[in-house]
Amino acid sequence: MKALVLSGPGHIELKDLSKPVLAPGKALVKMKAAALNRRDDWIREGKYPNIRFGVIMGSDGAGVVEEVFDEEHKPWVGQEVVINPNIDWGPDAEVQSPKYTILGMPVNGTFAEYALVNVDRLQHKPFHLDFLQASAMPLGGLTAFRALFRRGRLSAGQNVLISGFGGGVAQFAFLFAKAAGANVYVTSGSDEKIARALKMGAKGAYNYKKEANYSELWKTKGGFDLVIDSAGGDQINSFIKVLKPNGKIVFYGATNGLPAKLDLYRMFWNQLSLLGSTMGNDHEFNEMLAFVSTHQIRPIVDSIRPFSKIAESFADITRPNKVGKIVFQI
Ligand SMILES: NC(=O)c1ccc[n+]([C@@H]2O[C@H](COP(=O)([O-])OP(=O)(O)OC[C@H]3O[C@@H](n4cnc5c(N)ncnc54)[C@H](OP(=O)(O)O)[C@@H]3O)[C@@H](O)[C@H]2O)c1
Repeated sequence: MKALVLSGPGHIELKDLSKPVLAPGKALVKMKAAALNRRDDWIREGKYPNIRFGVIMGSDGAGVVEEVFDEEHKPWVGQEVVINPNIDWGPDAEVQSPKYTILGMPVNGTFAEYALVNVDRLQHKPFHLDFLQASAMPLGGLTAFRALFRRGRLSAGQNVLISGFGGGVAQFAFLFAKAAGANVYVTSGSDEKIARALKMGAKGAYNYKKEANYSELWKTKGGFDLVIDSAGGDQINSFIKVLKPNGKIVFYGATNGLPAKLDLYRMFWNQLSLLGSTMGNDHEFNEMLAFVSTHQIRPIVDSIRPFSKIAESFADITRPNKVGKIVFQI
């Protein structure tokens, strides 16, 4: 079978590998679609813990169960599934266990014609999504769901600001927050993306490249209950300024690095919270899929490409005009 492998430092390769061999507790999934995440590119660049060469990459995927090892799991055969990328979250719903990893490194992942996964990682594909759309959901959808609802405690009627609308995770935060009845505002570095967000129902949208001091603008809207961010860097201080008292910033990434300073004065005076968030537990994964089905949410897909183009597509993860997920038909 064809599979995308991290073959050396900075080097990814579509290789011919033998089909995985079933083992107790496992299912063999014939992959129909898979999607890229920023994580995949961090791994390629060597900027991720526990990197092993020779591993099949990929955290996001959807397909059809072809075979299972155990008799009791036979009802899964032929089912259309999405794969939960969590491995060993552990018993504490609040935080992952020290053994926690994510499908696609260091464990073989979804960028292959077949994926071998534990049967308990299988979930039924939401009916309203095709395989390509479903494959875009797992990692980004789960991260956004936990950041908004568990960590951010978002509720209907609240004002939420999602930074970097064009991001793979940010788009889910946008779609989920809107479906939950929040007033959703976004930032983006691109005017085209801002126009698109407004068309899709954003109450306001700001170009973070143009409005360095956008605090006055946002204050006129009563301030934000919640900011969702993955860029990090110094702009966190602008978010602190535009939060309502008792507001929260939830961040799940720091693409632009650390802030040089942090406005602790305003934080303590206004009773603000700065909360980290990573992925989500298995229960949240199932809740996320149910939420997506209930609200008939469809992910924003940037582009659909043949699987043969996957290696060269990594260069497009950071393409400035990308909106949403890059998805592969397998
Ligand atoms: N902790 C976790 O569980 C977890 C899970 C998933 C991702 N992450 C991390 O979160 C980050 C985003 O991941 P992703 O997959 O969504 O990546 P992505 O699709 O590459 O999105 C990156 C987006 O960041 C935005 N951005 C860049 N500079 C910005 C700034 N100064 N202010 C606001 N937005 C800015 C851009 O938005 P515009 O194009 O709109 O300007 C860009 O599209 C990565 O660092 C990733 O590793 C963490």
